[in-house]
Amino acid sequence: MGKNEEIYEKRFARHLDELKWLYMELYDSAEHFEELLGMMKDMYGQRKAALKKLDLEREENPQWFKGNDMLGMMMYTGQFAGNLKGVKKHLDYVKSCGVNYLHLMPLMESPKGRSDGGYAVADFRKVQEELGTVKDLEDLAAQCHKQGISLCLDFVMNHTSEDHAWARRARAGEKEYQDRYFFYDSWDVPGEYEKTVPQVFPTTAPGNFTWLPDTGKWVMTTFYPYQWDLNYRNPLVFHEMMYNFLFMTNLGIDVIRIDAVPYIWKELGTSCRNLKQVHTIVRMMRMIGEIVCPGILLLGEVVMEPEKVAPYFGTVEKPECHMLYNVTTMATIWHTVAVQDTRLLRKQMDIVYGLPKSYTFLNYLRCHDDIGWGLDYDTLESWGMKQVPHKQYLNDFFTGALEESFSRGELYNNDPVTKDARFCGTAASMCGVEKAGFCQDEAGMEQAIRLDRMLHAYMLFQSGIPVIYSGDEIGQVNDYTYKEDPDKAEDSRYIHRGQFKWELVENIEKEGTVQQRMFDGLRKLETLRSCHEAFGSEAQVQTVDFGDNGLLGIVRTGETEKIQGIFNFNWQEKRVFCEHGGQNLLTGEKVEAGEWILIPAYGFVWLKVPVE
Ligand code: GLC
Repeated sequence: MGKNEEIYEKRFARHLDELKWLYMELYDSAEHFEELLGMMKDMYGQRKAALKKLDLEREENPQWFKGNDMLGMMMYTGQFAGNLKGVKKHLDYVKSCGVNYLHLMPLMESPKGRSDGGYAVADFRKVQEELGTVKDLEDLAAQCHKQGISLCLDFVMNHTSEDHAWARRARAGEKEYQDRYFFYDSWDVPGEYEKTVPQVFPTTAPGNFTWLPDTGKWVMTTFYPYQWDLNYRNPLVFHEMMYNFLFMTNLGIDVIRIDAVPYIWKELGTSCRNLKQVHTIVRMMRMIGEIVCPGILLLGEVVMEPEKVAPYFGTVEKPECHMLYNVTTMATIWHTVAVQDTRLLRKQMDIVYGLPKSYTFLNYLRCHDDIGWGLDYDTLESWGMKQVPHKQYLNDFFTGALEESFSRGELYNNDPVTKDARFCGTAASMCGVEKAGFCQDEAGMEQAIRLDRMLHAYMLFQSGIPVIYSGDEIGQVNDYTYKEDPDKAEDSRYIHRGQFKWELVENIEKEGTVQQRMFDGLRKLETLRSCHEAFGSEAQVQTVDFGDNGLLGIVRTGETEKIQGIFNFNWQEKRVFCEHGGQNLLTGEKVEAGEWILIPAYGFVWLKVPVE
């Protein structure tokens, strides 16, 4: 047996029993199982030597992604640099942002005008023509590795585009392919599903089924009508999709973002979200990865309430995802900005800090999607804030409809029936940069930048991987040009998916510009984060109550140091009594014991305090 084979067999032996058990539970076919195993071995055979070497290194150091020097950025290839070659050329800029984890938004073939931002994949093995080729992607991944950057890509596994070869054949009447989706001759079954399955896009794409007049059948489409849900009850679907997954990892992709994963299993009479079979599949993916390409990570996209999120980490013995989004914290941060009251955020942080330290969260302020107001309404209601009017308030505040509001942005999926709506806008626009720039209001701009920095400082203060949304590092504002494109005009998420403004990057060098203030401010925070061990994932983290609802205090206790963050979410300046003294990490200034620290409106301090 060759060395590689030996390594493979060892990994395989470790997981075989459990993998078989779970597979049989879903598919009950030893013959099919053997097929899957054959495919896995083939894919291992095809894995490049350089990637196999990386696998071994990462197996030796399974904590490789948990350091406090990890910094992520997410971006659209086309918007950032035209195409994949362009991204490769601009890796120096990415590096200058301190980034070592790069998430490129979906870039596989997707039909124009029916792409859902690339989340309707027509071919899992072909890159969108204008972005380049699979070879370019492979080159980029190799170049990223040379520069110490891990590359993340979406694996859109819940559905395919209606233009995918399977969908075309299904539409043409081939039963074998119809069986890869959910096809129904009449409304009977779809009607039953509709009784219990909620809607993802209630106004832009109502309903969970689409009528295909040419085929005379209904097909399940949880998202847009052109995104057909895959049927994972069919082992061929599972196999082929695992094939596609390993195809991506063999290109050198390090982090696989499993898109919309809670939705992948459907069962009549349920919400079709987070069913136990979803966890079985994710657990199998984790094992398949650990056998074929153990250097990769699974990032689960679970945009759900907190009690639904953590189970996707699995257990210590049976882990599922390596990383998940800290989605409730993100939404709660913006709620806190609007209400200037940190109580809910403190409660949320107490929950997060109570979770095992082995859980790695991706922390973010903005991403390519809308902000759904998934907050703890039971708690809010006990404080007199009822769900419907509160969401209305948040949306009024952030769209700039209120007198006191500095934010700019637009509603998303505004449902006139439930009066529910989500929100879209860039971080800078939400913090007031757009409004202040428009009004040429220097004081307003000063405050907007302070708030934007404070929120980034808050995000960077958390354990896990902070992820910057490309453009946020230079305070990029909303882009309204999407309205002129009929393919995008209905989807306000495009307001924060604009072209990256390279002409603004030049301003980073010019003292006093918005871009310089934002960029340098962020870089300073990131550098501090990466060189203080108290920011490590093993630190103890707790909230601190200053008896003032405008303020939120957090303390991180590492092995040798203790750092306190005090964040002012209020429009008024605050004073905090510093009992034991310390050192302001940003200014380097010493604070004497018994001194009062001044925290400007929407400002913050990171204070190194004595370890008792
Ligand atoms: C995820 C993506 C979102 C997309 C959806 C359907 O939620 O983040 O942009 O619309 O999946 O694939």
